[in-house]
This record gives sequence, C-alpha cells and structure tokens, in this order.
Amino acid sequence: MGDEEKKVLVTRAMPKGGLDPLTAAGCQVTQRLDDVAYTHAELVELAPNFDGMVCLLTDKIDTDVLEAGARGRLRVVANAAVGYDNIDVERAERLGVVICNTPGVLDETTADLAFLLILAAARLASDAERDLREGKWAGWGISDHLGRDVHGRVLGLIGYGRIAREVARRAEGFGMEVLHHTRRPTGFPGFVETLDELLSTSDAVSIHVPLTDTTSKMISKRELALMKPTAVLINTSRGPVLDEEALCDALDGGSIFAAGLDVYESEPAVNPRLIASRRTVLLPHIGSATIETRTKMVRLASLGVVEVLSGRTPENVVTPR
Ligand code: DGY
Repeated sequence: MGDEEKKVLVTRAMPKGGLDPLTAAGCQVTQRLDDVAYTHAELVELAPNFDGMVCLLTDKIDTDVLEAGARGRLRVVANAAVGYDNIDVERAERLGVVICNTPGVLDETTADLAFLLILAAARLASDAERDLREGKWAGWGISDHLGRDVHGRVLGLIGYGRIAREVARRAEGFGMEVLHHTRRPTGFPGFVETLDELLSTSDAVSIHVPLTDTTSKMISKRELALMKPTAVLINTSRGPVLDEEALCDALDGGSIFAAGLDVYESEPAVNPRLIASRRTVLLPHIGSATIETRTKMVRLASLGVVEVLSGRTPENVVTPR
C-alpha cells in the first residue's frame, strides 16, 4: 500500500470484524463510534484529510463532499450498501475519486426479506398481529383476517438483477409462476416485454430496480391502476421508485389488496397514511439486516478501500449508470 500510512474515515459504528481488512492492511482508521451521522458540513470538512472513506447509504456524498475530498487526499469512497444513489458517482469519476459498493453479499438476505413481505402482505400478517397485541382477538373466526394465497400464484419481478433472481428462486418453492420485466430483454424464461403486462398479470409484484432518474416514481397512479385488486405490491429497493400517495390511494380505494414495504420516499419519515392502513406491512429498511450479511458488506467495502489504496481496481467499483 506504499510507505505512507493511509488514513481511512469510517462514518459510523459498524458490525464487528467488518473493518478487519483495513486494520490488516495497516490503515489508520478514524471511526465515529457514537453511531450518530456526520452532518454534511462535517463530511465536507473531514473528507480532504482521508485517503479513503467507508460510509453508509444515509451519508450524502455529493459534489461538496467529493470536491473537498479531491482537493485533499481522498481517493476512494466505499458505500456499505449495494445501492449508491446517495453518491454522485458521475462527479466522483470526474474528480478521480473511486466509488465502491457491496454487490453479491446481500442478495439472499434481501431476497429472504422480500419474500417475507410477499407472504406477510398477502396474509395481512401485520394487521392480524396488531389485533392480537391490542387484545382485540376474540378467538378463532371463520371470516377473520382473510388474506390471499401466495402458493401457485403469479409473481412479477420489476428488474431482474441478482436480488430479483434470488426472489424468483424462493418463489419456485411456493409453486409460483415467475415473470420479470426489464428495459432490455433478458433472454430468460418469464420475460415480459412491457411493465403494463407484468403489472396486470401478477398476483404479487416485487420491485428490484436501483433509484435513478428513469426509475423515480416508476410505479405511480397509472401503474397501480393496472394491478389486480387482489394483488400485493412489495418494495425492497428504494422508496422514491414508488409514489407513496398514489399507493395510499390505491390501498384505500381497494384497487390493490395490500403492500409490503421496507423502503420509503423520505426515510426515516413514513407517510402517516401507510401507517394508518390495515393493508400494509411496514419494515424499517432492514433488507440486508442480519449479523452475517452486514458484516460481509462492511468487509467488502473495506476491501474495496484497501484495493484502491494499494493501486488495484477491485471488482466492486461502480461507474456512472
Ligand atoms: C443496500 O445495500 O442498498 C440496501 O438498501 C441496504 O442493505
């Protein structure tokens, strides 16, 4: 890694062992351990003093941070997440700051959670549990808490990257027919050419696209109106891909059956209409939140920093879309 000791900023407390590659490579690690996010102004001030940074998706690595960093010694920023819409990758590339993410290591864990949401939304699990917790369960009832079957139904995947494919694999075990839609044909069985067709034929629709200018609000009033009134909608990707007000209208108006969400338009704020709805299952962005997976993510981010600071190009480098 060269003779000079490399300085790496780690913006938050991280799972134990995740930062081992940095220490093993002899980096001097400065870590915010109180688990409070740095302000934007603090990141701008700190960035030039470090060769590398390991950050979270809640850290906004924008032009200001990148320009300040590049004026100093910053050479690499590794996001401990697979999504990187919190980073201005285009600006980073122009400034010569390498950006890394954590692909691959969280696919199965996130797919598990997407499937959990498919099941929980279709079976109205949160609503049923809420009644029990609030002492409103009067005993077994033939017409109580009636959900919809998942097994044997049609699953529609929007996007067909690694995570979506893992969801598809799980769906096979439930005897589901799996369709997918992407902008370009995938060549795989189950590809449907239009999003409209996918929406109108699926019993469960699960979103697996990154947040970009093209995907922002891609599921809005028009798209929701195409879904079956018996269908459930799941989002484990990024909140702004879905128009939340339109979703609330669709749920309240009964034009879809239920929704399972792990991500929100303005996290950590959650639309009060979603919270009030009896037809939502709402989780606080925990798609990859297992001890094993979060540790792997931080490890991969750390390895990316070490590789770049050693003059190599790691596989987890991201380039502008
Ligand atoms: C990601 O990695 O992008 C998820 O949203 C958090 O695991």
